[in-house]
Amino acid sequence: MTQTEHKPEVNETPLVPIEKIVSLCKRRGFVFPNSEIYGGVAGIYDFGPLGVEMRNNIRRYWWWSMVQTHDNVVGIEGANITHPRVWEASGHVENFVDILVDCKKCKRRFRIDHLPPENVEQNKCPVCGGELTEPRKFNLLMETYLGVVEGDRMKTYLRGEACQNIYLDYDNVQKSSRMQIPFGICQIGKAYRNEVTPGNFLFRQREFEQWDLQFFVHPSEMQKWFDYWKEYRFNWYQSIINHKDRLHFREHGSDELAHYARQAFDIEYRTVLGWQEWEGIHWRQDWDLSRHSQYSGQDLSYTDPLTKERYIPWIVETSGGVDRTFLNLLLDAYEEQPDPMGKDNDRTVLHLHPWLAPVKVAVLPLQKNKEEIVSTAKSIHKNLQRFMVSQYDDIQNIGRRYRRQDEIGTPYCVTIDFQTLEDQTVTVRERDSMSQIRLPIAELQMYLLERVTWK
Ligand code: GAP
Repeated sequence: MTQTEHKPEVNETPLVPIEKIVSLCKRRGFVFPNSEIYGGVAGIYDFGPLGVEMRNNIRRYWWWSMVQTHDNVVGIEGANITHPRVWEASGHVENFVDILVDCKKCKRRFRIDHLPPENVEQNKCPVCGGELTEPRKFNLLMETYLGVVEGDRMKTYLRGEACQNIYLDYDNVQKSSRMQIPFGICQIGKAYRNEVTPGNFLFRQREFEQWDLQFFVHPSEMQKWFDYWKEYRFNWYQSIINHKDRLHFREHGSDELAHYARQAFDIEYRTVLGWQEWEGIHWRQDWDLSRHSQYSGQDLSYTDPLTKERYIPWIVETSGGVDRTFLNLLLDAYEEQPDPMGKDNDRTVLHLHPWLAPVKVAVLPLQKNKEEIVSTAKSIHKNLQRFMVSQYDDIQNIGRRYRRQDEIGTPYCVTIDFQTLEDQTVTVRERDSMSQIRLPIAELQMYLLERVTWK
């Protein structure tokens, strides 16, 4: 069995069709098609009220675990536009291409590396069997122009990969922060690619967000740090998913390595799309700093303060996608549970990690026409809001309110009832088990914070 094949297990939870996630995202305000009222733009999306909360949680958790908890890692936030020479030095102007073929009969377009090998060999369309055109190269960089005067305008590019800013700022960061090798620089930022075949919702977009670590090392320590970050990133993804068996490594063959990589492993996750890349761990060696030294004329070598050895640092890169994480987490978390009583009470639940769920707690007064219950519920909600995203909901019966929260992945619901008025306790219901406990109001805040905050 090769690494990309999967042997189905009995009783395995079925893989979730992407359409279910698209529909939930639109219905509940996670993600909307961009410019929808004008018919939309392929491969570009906007995030709605719940989407932006979840996205911020994902970003913050990454930043916390990569930057804040590592003494030898710092962060930057670079611009989306850089000097055009950057993309010549990086190799993207020359090499960042998709090779495409069109079907002469049905006019469909395919990336040649996405076609089954037999179709490439036989030059045959996988859909209608028609003849394919000669392969053609398309550069993925998105062009833009700086300046307003015709003739004086400078052609440049929206960044095709976010990490380039890190190499550009490497020297400034190293000197201003007095970092010594080995050390890393992190960034979360947008990247733009003229993907010829965008699709599968957030999986392949034209505007998307990447998170990168570039870790600078002495060549003799490259293997050690490559192994360290490879394992660290794998464990990071394992810690936030339910289906641990759907995550694995795949090593790139020599014929598929990116132009800058000497060695690469993808962390892949299995969905209805099959095993697909979630994050890449790349052995970039001295490619980036050497090229930028050469193209800019600035010496980007490093002098070891102790040995005085002068060298171009080698780089371990871990590069993943915020949007792909968002999509994979929803696919991993989504479950439709039929009502065991056979009544009209099925539930859709998102088993999102409490750290990443967009809403942490819902505060629900059992009755909305009982003044003391309502005022107690509102005061609990107002207090919790200072520490976490809390929703107050008094519409419809309690069962329906639970279902609404389950569908958006809210890990805890707090119900205020008549007993609350007598003994100052509330009911806390946990999303996945649906179990309930009774807790004094005075302990509620700490109980929730313990469970919804990463550590
Ligand atoms: N600096 C290295 C680099 O950019 P990449 O494999 O092209 O490597 C890294 O991209 C990550 O960015 C991928 O693992 C994926 O999560 C995300 N990504 C790449 N292209 C994407 C696209 N068109 N839409 C959404 N996410 C994308």
